[in-house]
Amino acid sequence: MLRTRIAVFVSGGGTNLQALIDSEELRSGEIVLVVSDKEEAYALKRAEKAGIKTAVVKKKGVSQADFEAGLISALDENRIDFIILAGFMCILSADFTSRYPRRIINVHPSLIPSFCGKGFYGLHVHEAALAYGVKVTGATVHYVNEIPDGGEIILQKAVCIEDGDTPEVLQRRVMEQAEWKLLPKAAEIVSKRIADEKNNVERKN
Ligand code: GAR
Repeated sequence: MLRTRIAVFVSGGGTNLQALIDSEELRSGEIVLVVSDKEEAYALKRAEKAGIKTAVVKKKGVSQADFEAGLISALDENRIDFIILAGFMCILSADFTSRYPRRIINVHPSLIPSFCGKGFYGLHVHEAALAYGVKVTGATVHYVNEIPDGGEIILQKAVCIEDGDTPEVLQRRVMEQAEWKLLPKAAEIVSKRIADEKNNVERKN
């Protein structure tokens, strides 16, 4: 049986990548490549420790088209079927996302459509939720299309805000209670669909 070949895109600490690596749920896919836009990202160390191939494709100082050409060549070289954005802090153009329809997913630390889109990433999302005064936030895993955080929702989970929360405390709770659980689950749902498609093609040949 063919498995789905996954690339995980990262920019920072990589706790969501770690959740994917440690997950027993992800059976239909294997992470064969971790790509970072920053060479200092700790996520790269996590990948190396797990024996996963890594690539750095820098965004700083290059055009969006050249950046994305670099990503595409890493993906093609490694015959990637499915891309998971796990704390990847770059926006991808329509040219890029349209190459991989329903084959890119992202984890976002709020209940979309709240606190999402351009400018809402990382800790800023939790700062905005606390500033607004919402009592419930959460995380969302969604398909990625040309609209930032605008693709079809796959899974969501709510997380309560507690008195005295700081952005850092809330970020950790959202990760623990929602992101690290949802992302492997969603990764398996999508990997299973793609693996089934690959195996159907294989059977016909
Ligand atoms: C996570 O909370 C992730 O949801 C968020 O950045 C953090 C990365 O942490 N992503 C976004 O805000 C994307 N819009 P990690 O590197 O430890 O996984």
